[in-house]
Amino acid sequence: MARDRTIYRCSACGGMEPKWAGRCSACGAWNELVEERAAPERRSQADGRTGPRVGPRPIAEVDTDRWHPAPTHVAELDRVLAGGLVPGSTAVLGGEPGIGKSTLLLQALAGLAKDGHRCLYVSAEESAEQVRLRAERLGALPPNLWLVSTTAVPEVLEDVAAVAPDVLAIDSIQTVYDPALASAPGSVAQVRECAHRLARLAKDRSLATMVVGHVTKEGGLAGPRVLEHLVDTVLSFEGERHHALRLLRATKHRFGSTEGLGLFAMTDAGLEGVPDPSALFLADRRPGTPGSVVAPVLDGHRPLLVEVQALVTATTASMPRRAAQGLDGGRLALVLAVLGRHVTGPFTALDVHTVVAGGVTTAEPGADLALALSLLSARTGVPVAPDLVACGEVGLGGELRQVHQTARRLAEAARLGFGRAIVPQSAPATVPGMTLLRAATLAQAARLAGVQGPADLQRHAS
Ligand code: TYD
Ligand code: MG
Repeated sequence: MARDRTIYRCSACGGMEPKWAGRCSACGAWNELVEERAAPERRSQADGRTGPRVGPRPIAEVDTDRWHPAPTHVAELDRVLAGGLVPGSTAVLGGEPGIGKSTLLLQALAGLAKDGHRCLYVSAEESAEQVRLRAERLGALPPNLWLVSTTAVPEVLEDVAAVAPDVLAIDSIQTVYDPALASAPGSVAQVRECAHRLARLAKDRSLATMVVGHVTKEGGLAGPRVLEHLVDTVLSFEGERHHALRLLRATKHRFGSTEGLGLFAMTDAGLEGVPDPSALFLADRRPGTPGSVVAPVLDGHRPLLVEVQALVTATTASMPRRAAQGLDGGRLALVLAVLGRHVTGPFTALDVHTVVAGGVTTAEPGADLALALSLLSARTGVPVAPDLVACGEVGLGGELRQVHQTARRLAEAARLGFGRAIVPQSAPATVPGMTLLRAATLAQAARLAGVQGPADLQRHAS
């Protein structure tokens, strides 16, 4: 079969080259040439429209019936999608290999199929038998769920025409390819072209499409940025490989907010929603251990209680270690500097290890105070009272600042049985069920928590 002619276009200036070259002859940019079809397939109709053209209307008369989301009945996924999958839209589900993307996709399709939606699962990575075996283990064999194993996009289009599904899933965008392009599957050119064709197919047929995408080491979706522009929703599925916990977030969502957070645990029976994550994160906490402080943080709109742990030991290296796991290294450096300058004197010749227990990651300033108190508690060997949480941002002058939604965070802490909170001076007047201990500075907070240490450790007696 004769290949369609392809050209190479510069991503920087749009210039065209008949052959690949390292440098664009038009603008001189290096490594910007990407293969594409010489004559892009003529669109079925202008701009992928299916019906007759609809002219301008008053905004209130625009019909939205078609855009109702269909629930997947995977509760945590529906929460992040603000209801479910929208017909005609395309979503990409990004995540590292082995995190559970295929599992989530299969569970979502099974839920949709049980509602009577016809679903087609295109597996480009695993054989149909492998997918069926997994589906069996997940108890996901509804009659409306169709399965095919293929990698060529034209075959996918044929299968969609034959099955006429309402929902299409492609696993994954990096393994499908368009034979018209010479580039290998997974290359920028292939990912872009395939994503284009699938997004157009979704619009043309009012098909809800979900596409799996692998991420690079740096955490971005593999493939060009254009993938994120093309689709309506970008979901990112994260978690630590050695923990069962998985976090699902929308980094882009045209049909709702991107503040939702979905939490799952990977079990033998697939992904299970975690409706009460705070309780899970704190389940293994040993109250009375020095270096452990609980912080109510916020992930999107969702308040979460996490345990911040610190260990401070004499170093044997010439450069003391500063390790932050699940925390931002920059914030650890800042908190250590402020502690050293305003509370205790520098952490010289001391190794510092800090973690957020349970495989959660938080980079937000609301955990600063808990981090600071856990460091002091670790350094002095004095545990923080088990009914105490700490919530606030640490400023460079050693002052404490309120973080947004403090009341909601503390309400979550009260729900889990914590009775006292160390908070900045400006914190809300009252929080039901919570005794607020106000501190203007980190040094005052340390005294309230009882971890200021002996006088020779304190920089300021004030
Ligand atoms: P998978 O969905 O294949 O991940 P991805 O598509 O993101 O690469 O599943 C990842 C891992 O999850 C796999 O190594 C096995 C594990 N797993 C379970 O623990 N329980 C299950 O029920 C399933 C289906 C998978
Ligand atoms: Mg997979």
